[in-house]
Amino acid sequence: MLNFVDVDLYIEKIKLSDIAKKYGTAVFVYSKKKIVDNFANYKKALNKKKGLICFACKANSNGKILEILAKLGAGADTTSGGEIFRCLKAGFSASKIVYAGVGKTSEEIEYALKNKILMFNVESLEELDTINNIAAKLKAKAKIAFRINPHVDPDTHQNIATGKKGTKFGIDYNEAVEAYDYAKTKKNIIISGIHFHIGSQILDIRPYEAAAQKIQKIILQLQKNGIKIEYVNIGGGLGIAYEKWQEYLLPHELAETVLPIFDKNKKIIFEPGRSIIADAGHLLSKVIYRKFSGEKNFIIVDAGMNDLVRPALYGSYHEIVPIKKSNINNKIKTDIVGPICESGDFMGKDRTLSLLEQGDFLLIKNTGAYGFAMSSQYNSRPMLPEVLVDKDKATLIRKRGTFKDLLLNEV
Ligand code: LLP
Repeated sequence: MLNFVDVDLYIEKIKLSDIAKKYGTAVFVYSKKKIVDNFANYKKALNKKKGLICFACKANSNGKILEILAKLGAGADTTSGGEIFRCLKAGFSASKIVYAGVGKTSEEIEYALKNKILMFNVESLEELDTINNIAAKLKAKAKIAFRINPHVDPDTHQNIATGKKGTKFGIDYNEAVEAYDYAKTKKNIIISGIHFHIGSQILDIRPYEAAAQKIQKIILQLQKNGIKIEYVNIGGGLGIAYEKWQEYLLPHELAETVLPIFDKNKKIIFEPGRSIIADAGHLLSKVIYRKFSGEKNFIIVDAGMNDLVRPALYGSYHEIVPIKKSNINNKIKTDIVGPICESGDFMGKDRTLSLLEQGDFLLIKNTGAYGFAMSSQYNSRPMLPEVLVDKDKATLIRKRGTFKDLLLNEV
């Protein structure tokens, strides 16, 4: 949804320089059409099969964005009481909310049960006991799936690989059947599904396929033990092309390979985060200063690692482009860095860019997922605003934070 008209970069039908002028920088900008299209790809992938597309709202939990997805019929994959709260406020039906996470507290479990969410993706036997006890206290039944760790390497950054042996996630593949047998003895538990999520920014189909085959083996064994699995939740994790040359998988490719592994009557749950929202959002930033130091060029912009932590945390790459085409052919190699007092505070390293002036604007692309969602007020920098573009209309969907906000809740 980004394209140049003459020398200006537009998002949908709005000139990015107009957004910078109106809302100031740095600012996150989203395209509604891209969100709608990305979601439609999952709908197509599900085809006529029964199931749910549960948006992993940890990727982006702005209420207006959640509202768009809820209206499209999405469910939500949540990971805390706060996320369940946000999703309910945004209009998701509780009957479409699933809840994963290794450390659900009693308060969060009670909140989820009282709100009658679809199911808990349970990650340990102690958690199962806790859910069962709280459900008994509330005279309720809790629907569960076990999250299984299938011991598959998704070949991604180690911080976001979750289905590998030795990570904290899920129930060990070898202990899955035993866990279900145990759950069957619990009066306030209803066994509803099986869940796996092997990692994030996955570009290869093979780990999905390997994990699905292992899960199917478990399902067959459970059937023999008289345990029926209604939902198979295959998690999220599809990657996007952060770098132009990267090949990535589309939802229908994932579906065509993985879904036939399971019985055709199973209901399927997808939990996409990044592949719905990453390339729908971008961080618009301004050049504050330029300098040459230690034989390197630096462009210092007004977005820092508190606003976008992915490069600092994972060494991740985001394409950075000026929003005005330059007719000057002179290019430089430069680092693009933020104002935070840490050397790890960078947006891009060794990038080749046309010469920029102070006050020029840059777009840090594909930052809609895990961008604002992971931002903080580090260095006492107020939170950034967010703007949603729908064709020729831009709407502020989060105001820029203020200095006063920094003191909020301080006693
Ligand atoms: N389901 C579960 C249980 C998850 O833990 C996650 C993400 C998802 C679904 C969605 O995964 P996605 O489709 O977005 O890959 N902050 C990191 C990514 C962390 C992902 C955590 N779990 C990043 O910026 O790359």
